[in-house]
Amino acid sequence: MSVNADRIRELIEKRREARLGGGEKRIDAQHAKGKHTARERIDMLLDEGSFEEYDMFVKHHSTNFGLENEKYLSDGVITGHGTIDGRTVFVFFQDFTVFGGSLSKSYANKICKIMDQAMRVGAPLIAINDSGGARIQEGVRSLAGYADIFQRNIDASGVIPQISAIFGPCAGGAVYSPALTDFILMTEDTSYMFVTGPKVAQTVTGENISAAELGGAHVHATKSGVTHFVAPDEEEGLAMIRKLLSYLPQNNLEEAPIIPCTDPIDRVDDALNEIIPESPNVPYDVKDVIYSIVDEGEFLEVQRQFARNIVVGFARFNGMSVGIVANQPMFLAGVLDIDSSRKAARFVRFCDAFNIPLVTLVDVPGFLPGSHQEYNAIILHGAKLLFAYGEATVPKITIILRKAYGGAYDVMSSKHLRGDANYAWPTAEIAVMGPKGAVEVLHGREISGIENEEERNAFVESKENEYRKQFANPYEAAEYGYIDDVIEPRNTRFRIIRALSMLATKKYVNPPKKHSNEPL
Ligand code: HXC
Repeated sequence: MSVNADRIRELIEKRREARLGGGEKRIDAQHAKGKHTARERIDMLLDEGSFEEYDMFVKHHSTNFGLENEKYLSDGVITGHGTIDGRTVFVFFQDFTVFGGSLSKSYANKICKIMDQAMRVGAPLIAINDSGGARIQEGVRSLAGYADIFQRNIDASGVIPQISAIFGPCAGGAVYSPALTDFILMTEDTSYMFVTGPKVAQTVTGENISAAELGGAHVHATKSGVTHFVAPDEEEGLAMIRKLLSYLPQNNLEEAPIIPCTDPIDRVDDALNEIIPESPNVPYDVKDVIYSIVDEGEFLEVQRQFARNIVVGFARFNGMSVGIVANQPMFLAGVLDIDSSRKAARFVRFCDAFNIPLVTLVDVPGFLPGSHQEYNAIILHGAKLLFAYGEATVPKITIILRKAYGGAYDVMSSKHLRGDANYAWPTAEIAVMGPKGAVEVLHGREISGIENEEERNAFVESKENEYRKQFANPYEAAEYGYIDDVIEPRNTRFRIIRALSMLATKKYVNPPKKHSNEPL
């Protein structure tokens, strides 16, 4: 056998060893938990045969606690690049079979290397998390490694899309890398995220709570809003990431890909002319409007289970990717509150950072009143959404479907925040507040002076009708040019597409500054 053949055999053997991660037993344990190994996940995420691995031969350099005798090639994380639908992405997959996927300095260096490369190339980063956190034996070097990654997440924010999937544990400071990325996806039942786990919670606060109740996918999807997507299993989760990427550009200097569109651009939908109920207090599902107007009825909803009074997500018009923000009358009458403001603000900022036009569908009765909202700073959270829309320079198209009351009218991508195309349906009501509240304020003294109940009700009704006639329509706003046109609902798709096409060459630049100081 030649020397060369020996060397090649050695290489093949090393590769085989690296691909085994922490060994068969731990792979079996991973499978027994209903999870895939890091290598199996690579095949599910990337185009077949496209993965190029970096740093397969990296090992840790720790000598504490006997670790010098326990080393694994790759050291618990698989890094590299590949393609999704033919477009380059950088990826890292934490390998739970090696020291529980815990992070050493060598491991962090591997991640930093591909993050730096992703930034140079201008390609998205996808992080698959499944880790016991800092490698305890490495001490502060592990903490340093985390911070090296955080710094790169921060530098990359707004430059390349960053997506994190959580496919196992993600605890302690480790949660902050995903938190710094644009989107988080969790799997039902097999993932959890928390800054401090159930044991610490029990010791410090006496709270007795399970890992799932403290930081499972359901909790983060519905209560905290930390996760943007929940998948029933890893296959579906990785498919969702592929789909999400199809709506995004590679980086902040590019546009999202245009997908050939077979849905007629002038398709009208007569049902939209009837979708707004007779009574202003009766809800309808704004998602029916979305499905009706977008290409092929396809809408990728983001944070579907959180703050359901606002709907955000990606769709296409004539093949062009857009971000949709829509008040949802089915939940809390579509009111703006703390959670819905936070949710929409973050989404608007993402779209603006990555050149994705915004289409806003408005049906908002105002801000949610009450001490809970005020004590928890609705003033600041509402201002986040206002700030996000006002700062956004991407094409902004707004359709007022029904209510646009008070400050919420201004906030929801109004003309005054440099909306580019502001349309209203004939059913729009644009006013400082709803008729009921307005009549109470304007005629309170007169109303309480009428003793006979019938007469009082008749008076209130006549004043409400008067108010409605004046303001509960789009024409007062249109008279001032705050609405560019009142459109027939059935034509909404075509009007949006025409506006987007006109706005394709939009150029607007905010005043130069180091950065803004938005309310946080
Ligand atoms: C080193 C670790 C490890 C860690 C797990 N392992 N976590 N090794 N450092 N942090 C090893 C285990 O020793 C075991 O090795 C293997 O990984 C699998 O772990 P198990 O406990 O057998 O698995 P499981 O029962 O599924 O439990 C998973 C777990 C648990 C819940 C993650 O391992 C755990 O609680 N680990 C500690 C988590 C933690 O406290 N991390 C530090 C958080 S603070 P063998 O050889 O038996 O296979 C932190 C700070 C970050 O991360 C700060 C950043 C700024």
